[in-house]
Amino acid sequence: MKRKVIAGNWKMNMLPNETIKFIEELTPMVKDTENEVILCVPYIDLFYALLNAQGTNIKIGAQNMHYEESGAYTGEISGKMLKSIGVEYVIIGHSERRQYFAETDETVNKKIKTALANELKPIVCVGETLSQREAGKAEKIITKQTELALEGLTEKQVKELIIAYEPIWAIGTGKTATKEDANEAIKAIRNKIAKIYGQTVADGVIIQYGGSVKSSNAKELFEMSDIDGGLVGGASLKPEEFSKIVNYNK
Ligand code: PGA
Repeated sequence: MKRKVIAGNWKMNMLPNETIKFIEELTPMVKDTENEVILCVPYIDLFYALLNAQGTNIKIGAQNMHYEESGAYTGEISGKMLKSIGVEYVIIGHSERRQYFAETDETVNKKIKTALANELKPIVCVGETLSQREAGKAEKIITKQTELALEGLTEKQVKELIIAYEPIWAIGTGKTATKEDANEAIKAIRNKIAKIYGQTVADGVIIQYGGSVKSSNAKELFEMSDIDGGLVGGASLKPEEFSKIVNYNK
């Protein structure tokens, strides 16, 4: 069976001392899972997270990066910098970055390319707004976002990345997409990838669902045919709650 990948997205939460404590507590709770466990933490916590996750099955990711390798970009962090300290994953194009920090499909595409060039695995976020869904345009929007995100990538590169389908109206709102709607949306993304790269590549790509995932709904979502795990925001801030999501199949 294909592996399930469960990633926490801490957003702008958690201090270094809280990071150390969190990983100490989470480690024994998730050590026996066959699912992949990732924590995407703020830049300032990365080093502590990496040190404390050493020798565990917890992998560490960042939440953003710049698409240039270096240069006059005050306040930014490059993929090369992330790689240099041992980061493995990086979230790219989260809807909050698209909404508040002028992230576009074009910058998302550039960032994916730079991330892959630095051997980082991108977790690429796509998702529609509520009005787009209500207008019946969800599928069109998310497949277009996917197409633009992947533009110019080789088959080999596409195999390296993770896509997270996150309907914007479900993020941090407590509203989860129904398991059927989430599965349909993810199928549409997979079909788009199949059209460009072929069915085998598409079947191999990990596509997560994100948006108010919690321990009470993880199982029903992750058991759907096309949902390969989740990107978890709020519910990833407590070790016990997050561990229950990771261990949804225990
Ligand atoms: P949420 O966030 O789980 O708090 O809805 C998910 C995300 O934004 O990645």
